Amino acid sequence: MTDTKRLWTLLDTFDLTGYTDRAHREGRDALRGDGALVDQIRTLAQATAAVRKDPARLGRGARRSVETAGLFLDAQDYLLTHDKPRYEPYASVGLLRHLLRVDGNTASRAECAHIWLVFRRILEAQLEFELAALAGITDLGKRDFSPEVARNRYLLMAKMRDLIPGRPGSRVVGSRWLTMPAGDRTLSQVAWDRSGTAAVERLLLFPQTACHDEVAFLSQIQLGECLFWGALLCVRQALTAVAAGDLATATAHVQAAAQFADPLIKIFHSVRAMPPEHFLNFREETGNASAVQCASWQMLDAHLYGVLPEKVAALHNTPEVRHVLSLDRPDFVPLVPLVAELGETPEERVLRDEIVTLDQRVRAWRAFHTRQLAGRRNPGYIPENANGSGGTAGFPYLASHRPPRASALVKGSVKDSDHWPTSGNTRTGSR
Ligand code: HEM
Repeated sequence: MTDTKRLWTLLDTFDLTGYTDRAHREGRDALRGDGALVDQIRTLAQATAAVRKDPARLGRGARRSVETAGLFLDAQDYLLTHDKPRYEPYASVGLLRHLLRVDGNTASRAECAHIWLVFRRILEAQLEFELAALAGITDLGKRDFSPEVARNRYLLMAKMRDLIPGRPGSRVVGSRWLTMPAGDRTLSQVAWDRSGTAAVERLLLFPQTACHDEVAFLSQIQLGECLFWGALLCVRQALTAVAAGDLATATAHVQAAAQFADPLIKIFHSVRAMPPEHFLNFREETGNASAVQCASWQMLDAHLYGVLPEKVAALHNTPEVRHVLSLDRPDFVPLVPLVAELGETPEERVLRDEIVTLDQRVRAWRAFHTRQLAGRRNPGYIPENANGSGGTAGFPYLASHRPPRASALVKGSVKDSDHWPTSGNTRTGSR
């Protein structure tokens, strides 16, 4: 038997359905005391790592499948063996990134459509989870379930469907919530599904507690990740097109980025449906997980506005995003400041308008997050005297961010030079 075949046989000894069920009923935090489970996951993670080490021996499909299984196991291994979760393993961000297929750093139509597909699957699964709970047809023994909260959140999240480009009214069929209890597929079958659908449905969401609202919280984070990645890839492509003097292509990419930025605020509207006491019942178990460690957002922010001086210390102190500081250099020209250099030709105008729209959407998201989620009061998700879980001062850190406003940079605008020094060239250092 080849190493790979042996690996698939070994992976099938893992009871994926049982693990998922326990993570939901008991919370993954409680599973840390189960030595046999922890040992099994460690053994499987190590066996998968050994095969991943030599990817050249694998065909393309097998490589992707082994990677899928490995990223899933690594995150579980980390969470079950560390006291304090961090953002990426907590929200399965490594695996999500792999399933989004964003490593190529390009943003073709097909690649954007794939990101939207994953977004839609996560959204539909969350909506079905709420519906099943509201209908009383799940048996997961969730804590802190409030029908009113679930209903409000359902209505707010459902609004995001309208913002997904593509066929109107098309719906993704099948979801982890309807299939989870039956859960007949094994880990290797899930990993082998080439489309990645099974992995999106079965390998992404493992809450730390049995709190109902934590499931929504994880989905909301993953939805945000999809949008940050989509927007980032499009912005990078736009910068490359600007550098090549191709403003029409740049405009198309900025438009696509603005589409990804559109549902961001709606995610936060739906987060705010959760009462602070529900959040506080699972906040502790999320440990040091904080989206300040979110590489896709930090890269997007830097590609839009440059590295904000107010963020340098936080980026430096956060290993997952320290690499973003490499963009803090004079020859890297981010997107929003380019507005100041655009003239009045029709092509320049339309590009400028699209950048302003993109900036407005991201600003609205940022302002809502700072004021309505991270503030000490109203509604008060962060306990008195607590810092952010990512080690920043929390609200004061977020409130200190002063990205340049695109509309204020438009030539002839009164506030033109108040906001941002422009570089005077349109070359970009986009990576
Ligand atoms: C009750 C809900 C939430 C609260 C109270 C909250 C609070 C905070 C706080 C205090 C920070 C500062 C960093 C730190 O942890 O030290 C932060 C950062 C961040 N949060 Fe949230 N957050 C919430 C939900 C979310 C969700 C659902 C997302 C994603 C969809 C998100 C995305 C971010 C991002 C991207 C950052 C980094 C900001 C930056 O460094 O520019 N947050 N959050």
